[in-house]
Amino acid sequence: MQTTAATAGSPGPAATALTSRQRFLNACACWPVDHPPVWLMRQAGRALPEYRALRQKHSFLDLAQTPELAAEVTLQPVRRFGFDAAILFSDILVTAEGLGQKFRFDETNGIQMDFALRSTADVARLDVKALPERLHYVPRALRLVRAALGKQTALIGFAGSPWTLATFMAEGGSRDHYPHALSLFRKDRKTYFELAEKLTAAIIAHLQLQIEAGVDAIQIFDSHGGLLAPLEFQEASGRWIKEIITSLNERVAGILPANPASALPAGCRQHVEGVPPVIVFSLGTHGNWDDLLATGANVLGIDWRFPLADARRLLPCDIGLQGNLAPALLGDATPEAVAAETARLLEVMRGRNGYIFNLGHGVPPEARLENIAALVEVVKNFK
Ligand code: CP3
Repeated sequence: MQTTAATAGSPGPAATALTSRQRFLNACACWPVDHPPVWLMRQAGRALPEYRALRQKHSFLDLAQTPELAAEVTLQPVRRFGFDAAILFSDILVTAEGLGQKFRFDETNGIQMDFALRSTADVARLDVKALPERLHYVPRALRLVRAALGKQTALIGFAGSPWTLATFMAEGGSRDHYPHALSLFRKDRKTYFELAEKLTAAIIAHLQLQIEAGVDAIQIFDSHGGLLAPLEFQEASGRWIKEIITSLNERVAGILPANPASALPAGCRQHVEGVPPVIVFSLGTHGNWDDLLATGANVLGIDWRFPLADARRLLPCDIGLQGNLAPALLGDATPEAVAAETARLLEVMRGRNGYIFNLGHGVPPEARLENIAALVEVVKNFK
């Protein structure tokens, strides 16, 4: 028997009253929706007073590693703003921790890792097999969030791309510049590839944990893709993202209930049965659209430096697009200006299936709550 969209929470036609989860999944599959779904990258965090109150009592890592607290922080922005999707409160560097390179966070120094990874010997220290055990708190947090959201709201799992993780790991933390991963890639390709292979395996394992714990979609953050020259991107980043997506399609198919993918409109890419859609967000890689399409992503994030109208024109209709309001507006502008810019972006995408409203990068800590509320209201009332 064919499961219906309503029971499977999978893409289905824009009938009466979509749930947030169906709206989001429909958009990922380029199906019609009543209005675009909305969530924001880094929606949980310092802009929210309820997050800051918890941070008075707990370190960032305590929040991320205690399932009840991570679940609570994940739900905070959904409760306050009614986003269509929740994204697990965690960090891309959790994958490094799963491999044995621990990190911590403090307000003055940002992310600090236990060591900087520079040599083949350092790469050899990374242990992929230990990852599921080290990251046991991730699926536990996801199951709590899933139970709270039910089938009403979509749940997004995520990981960094191999390249972006490599930049932090080679530097030993967050810095103004990331020369070490670049020089590893440019001068010692063999060691870079050893690292990228291990990271790819670790990210697959990390995402698989998340898929088994019930996430509806995956986002891969390639926030440092733009540090590469366009001709370097494919070898340093694109091909590894492609390997992750291909492997998920092979491994996960069959574990999850089937999507009614055969019902997709003509011309739309067929999703692999039962595999959550993948969003690839690569920042500053506007010379690499073909490489990004070749990853097999279902949805591409469009950063705020690229005109959304150009993305609509350039990218095929069976690829979802996500973005791309300039994040700084949330801190700098009035609610009226944010509402006007939100409406403008919605108009740019009018009539184009597969649009997910989001920022062009993460919510900045100085974002004003009334600006986020104004943005959400405009998207929800768009007709
Ligand atoms: O989106 C969400 O709400 C979920 C949580 C989330 C965090 N980090 C929480 C976090 C997600 C999805 C991330 C992803 C992440 N982490 C990225 C990709 C997105 C992007 O911004 O480009 C990157 C590059 C990181 C690495 C990272 N984590 C850095 C560089 C820093 C320090 C600088 C900063 O932004 O604060 C972090 C710490 C971090 N991760 C915080 C949060 C809420 C700040 C910790 C705090 O203030 O309590």
